Amino acid sequence: MKSIDLTGRVAFVTGSTRGIGLAIARMLHGAGASVAIVGRDESKARAVADELQERAVGVACDVAVAEQVERAIAAAEQALGPIDVLVNNAGLTRDNILLRLTEADWDAVLDANLKGAFHTTRAILKGMMKRRFGRIVNITSIVGLTGNKGQANYAASKAGLIGFTKSVAKEYAGRGVLANCVAPGFIETDMTAALPAEARATLLQGIALGRLGRPEDVAGAVLFLASDLAGYVTGQVLVVDGGMII
Ligand code: NAI
Repeated sequence: MKSIDLTGRVAFVTGSTRGIGLAIARMLHGAGASVAIVGRDESKARAVADELQERAVGVACDVAVAEQVERAIAAAEQALGPIDVLVNNAGLTRDNILLRLTEADWDAVLDANLKGAFHTTRAILKGMMKRRFGRIVNITSIVGLTGNKGQANYAASKAGLIGFTKSVAKEYAGRGVLANCVAPGFIETDMTAALPAEARATLLQGIALGRLGRPEDVAGAVLFLASDLAGYVTGQVLVVDGGMII
C-alpha cells in the first residue's frame, strides 16, 4: 500500500506566512518535502522557514508582478532544487456589492488571485515538463462554484482559477504535470476573522459537519493531491467545506 512520502520533492507555496498557506507548507514539510515559503514580506517568509529548521527557504514576491515571481522562483530553486509541487494559495478579498465595486477593487483581486497563478505556473512549468513530473494545486473557493453576494470580483477570480486549472491539466497531462483545485468552504483564518457572531451562527447552520473549517483541513487535501496517491487525478476540484454545498 502507498503512503504519503514527499521526501526529495520541492514545493513552492504562495502566501504561506500565515493561514491556510502556512498549514499547507507545514504539512508538506512534515511529509518530507523541501518547502519555499513565499510571502510579500521577506522577513516573515524567512522567519517561517527558520521555524521549519531544515529543507526550507523564505522568498518574497507579490504574485501579481511577473518579474518578482520569476526572481522568487529562481531564488527558491537555487536554495532547494527544481520545484516539483506548486501551490497557488496567495489570495485576497475586496468585498462590496457590484454597484460599489471600484475598478481598483476588481483589479487587485483578479491580479492576485488569478493572474498570480498564471505567473507562477508559466514560470515553473518548463522545468516540470522537462523532468516529466509536476503537481499544481490551486486554492480556489466554493464561491467560485456558487457565486456570492458582495464578492463578484472574488468569485470571478476563483471561477477563473478553476477554468485555468482545467486547461493546464489538459495541456500538460502528457508531460506528467497534474493540475487540480482545492475549494475550501469557510475556514477560520485572518481572511474570515471579521465575520460578526450572528452571521457566524447562521453560517454554521448550513454546514453539515456543524463546524467551521481549520487550515489543516485544507492542507490535508493539498497533501493528497501533491502525493503519489493522486497520480490518476487531474483537472478536478476537491471541495473541502464540511458539507456546505452538497
Ligand atoms: P489569509 O489572508 O490569512 O492569507 C492569504 C495570504 O496570501 C497572506 O499571507 C497574504 O499576504 C498572501 N497574499 C495575498 N495577496 C498576495 C500577493 N499579491 N502576493 C503574495 N502574497 C499574497 O487568507 P487564507 O484564509 O489563509 O486564504 C488562503 C487562500 O485560501 C486564499 O486564496 C483564499 O482566497 C482561499 N480561501 C480561503 C477561505 C477561508 O475561508 N479562509 C475559503 C476559500 C478560499
